[in-house]
Amino acid sequence: MSNETRHLIAGNWKMNGALQEAKDFMDAFGQNPSPDHVEIALMPPFTLLHSMSDRLASMGIMLGAQNVYNEDKGAFTGSICPLMLRDAGCHYVILGHSERRSIIGESNAKIRSKMNASWLHGLEPILCIGETLEQRENGVTNIILAEQLAILKGAPKGAPLTVAYEPVWAIGTGKTASTEQVTETHAFVHQELQRLGHDCRVLYGGSVNPGNAEELMSCPGVEGALVGGASLKADSFMDIVNATVKAVS
Ligand code: PGA
Repeated sequence: MSNETRHLIAGNWKMNGALQEAKDFMDAFGQNPSPDHVEIALMPPFTLLHSMSDRLASMGIMLGAQNVYNEDKGAFTGSICPLMLRDAGCHYVILGHSERRSIIGESNAKIRSKMNASWLHGLEPILCIGETLEQRENGVTNIILAEQLAILKGAPKGAPLTVAYEPVWAIGTGKTASTEQVTETHAFVHQELQRLGHDCRVLYGGSVNPGNAEELMSCPGVEGALVGGASLKADSFMDIVNATVKAVS
């Protein structure tokens, strides 16, 4: 289990949110109700990072980005480098999200090079891993997760890292893994991480909502959530935070 004892509730806004929606969210959200038990982070699109940064900091909410490029600077039209994210106040960066793996075609090797670039500039990657429904049904979930985690081989010891286990079939579908599946898979992920010398906090992601958060956040080996759809509205995101506080305190 990781040294970080607090659960992390991270909101991934994906390609959603304009300036007015960001303001409305921050007006409605309020402060972290229990910083001793829960850390909160938000990953809005790149265009909102600078404008949300100071206000989120004053609310005790960490800032993160949804992606980064693996080079420092130069002729890479359309890309954003780690320094730019640091400049905007980011601590976290999501890497290896299944939507980027499947839609953009990001490989494990590319994800590792983005991790290296992130570490060089003090960003903490949230490395997303997860199996498809077909892979789960074929009984190869652990093989797939081990392959995705194998990119951590040779990574600098003690480099800041969070892992998010997100079954692909549970993302944006309203389906969540059962508590047995979550407990079993998180135990495997922790075991693999330990073997690789990088045990760290492991989040669960995939249709987390105010109704299932307390149960999911109570599962052994689950140390937070990566929340998509339910993080877009201040009240549902806060309900997930409160459910987590209840689960862990
Ligand atoms: P979801 O997304 O909560 O909308 O299922 C989770 C994610 O993609 O990180």
